[in-house]
Amino acid sequence: MTDFSQKHLLGIDQLSTSDIETILDLAGDYAARLEDTSFKTDTLNGKRVLSLFFEDSTRTRTSFEMAAKNGGADWVNIDIEHSAVKKGETLLDTVTTLQAITRPAAIIMRHSEYGAPSLIAGHVDCPVINAGDGTREHPTQALLDALTILQHKETLRDLNIAICGDVAHSRVANSNMILLTKMGANVRIIAPENLMPEKFPVDGIAKFKTMEGGLKDCDIIMMLRLQKERMAEGTITSENAYFSEFGLTAEKLALAKPGALVMHPGPVNRNVEIADDITDNPARSLILKQVANGVPTRMAVLDLLLGNK
Ligand code: CP
Repeated sequence: MTDFSQKHLLGIDQLSTSDIETILDLAGDYAARLEDTSFKTDTLNGKRVLSLFFEDSTRTRTSFEMAAKNGGADWVNIDIEHSAVKKGETLLDTVTTLQAITRPAAIIMRHSEYGAPSLIAGHVDCPVINAGDGTREHPTQALLDALTILQHKETLRDLNIAICGDVAHSRVANSNMILLTKMGANVRIIAPENLMPEKFPVDGIAKFKTMEGGLKDCDIIMMLRLQKERMAEGTITSENAYFSEFGLTAEKLALAKPGALVMHPGPVNRNVEIADDITDNPARSLILKQVANGVPTRMAVLDLLLGNK
């Protein structure tokens, strides 16, 4: 038994530090056990998980599916592109219809609307897990990022962590700002003026408009994807100009602490956000570790919300 008391996972903003520690402890345990590639549990036996991705995904959807199946759950994936959504069915009608058909133990949902998973949580009788809602939150991304950092650092407390790039459109940045601040890290944002949000989801975030100014003393540098699909045309003058000012190169990385580690939630726009020689350097880049940690982190979340334990 744990003291985890949440019914849904809609955002990091709703989690206590104790909830976060409980998830990360279990995720860390699963990460170690998954070294054995045949590892499975039976904690989700007899449960059905419904996957509703209204936006594209490679990492989040695949690792949730792996996590559900590793726990013994049945996985029902809805192909939204070929569903009655295309005939104009409302979000709520779609979800309540699919709930009646599949009787899920949990719904995993990604949607472009800010707060869509919270809306659905008010109309269904099972846990809803937010897999990304518009520019608001992507809670399991922040949890897997924290797990990845903790595999390289003893604690999050007092680490200097820079989140850099297209912060204005980033739900990953929001969830990370909330989680890392709650856990005692010093978070700073580095972004061009027109990609800097007007306000941050928590207090105490330092703000820099240049990489040269913001990278000093950083332990961890989280680079973000330029979210062109959410951006007005002309927001950036060109990818080359953006890379020159805000792309992470070996020269800019040298401004951070020696051995500073680089993260990116993916998908990466190569040589726009990070130079390839850093992206592909396993001594500095944690990107593939982040994606691998999606599975144990999502196993932990599913267990704590609907497991048989
Ligand atoms: N980081 C992330 O959410 O990636 P996907 O869009 O591939 O799920």
